[in-house]
Amino acid sequence: MPLPSSLQTPQPPAAAVPSLAPPGLRVVIPHLGRVTADLREHLLQQRPVTLWLTGLSGAGKSTLAYALEEELHGLGFASFVLDGDNLRHRLNRDLGFSAAERSENIRRVAEVAALMNDAGLLVFTALISPQRSDRAMARALIGEHRFLEVHVSTPLSVCEGRDPKGLYTMARAGRIPQFTGVSAPYEAPESPDFSIDTAHLSLREACTQLLALLRQRGYIR
Ligand code: ADX
Repeated sequence: MPLPSSLQTPQPPAAAVPSLAPPGLRVVIPHLGRVTADLREHLLQQRPVTLWLTGLSGAGKSTLAYALEEELHGLGFASFVLDGDNLRHRLNRDLGFSAAERSENIRRVAEVAALMNDAGLLVFTALISPQRSDRAMARALIGEHRFLEVHVSTPLSVCEGRDPKGLYTMARAGRIPQFTGVSAPYEAPESPDFSIDTAHLSLREACTQLLALLRQRGYIR
């Protein structure tokens, strides 16, 4: 007998979320707890948000995200960094760097960020996330009211000059295929919520600017 439509969980639109589920009807009924977002906000004295840091490899995303996390910890706020390189050792260890795999990388990280925001945390993601459409997907999954796109806009020449992991040298020598900025595209945000060029700012200044952004937007006091 078919289930009433109220018990049938609709499949998400294929364009928004790649279908990983087996075909056919899924019956999955959400269970809601009584601890609301408001109660969590009151407990933690902060409003959850995801700062989505996007930029080239070597732009300073991870350095900035971890510095901000440390600063906020010192101020008594609860935050967490989701770092692309780190996640690729565990959750995303099965993913490479084709456009489709990067999309799946962004989708998974966005889902984790959304859960962490649901738990009340301030989240800072540090992923190249080179495709505009993927960043739009992340915004849609996390929610407009708690998503800020931050372009770490350090130019390619500076990132390449830093080359902290020696990857640009390897990419120029043709030893890393599809390397962002060298042999794979980076689509810069057209209207980011905030931009930071670490070529012209100290880490402290950059951190101060992001703290001010969080205060101005009312996520922390
Ligand atoms: S993303 O494009 O899918 O967002 P992500 O931020 O998770 O990338 O991982 C980027 C990191 O992977 C880089 O900082 C670099 O250390 C490493 N890496 C290895 N191969 C590549 C590649 N082909 N393109 C970009 N980064 C790469």
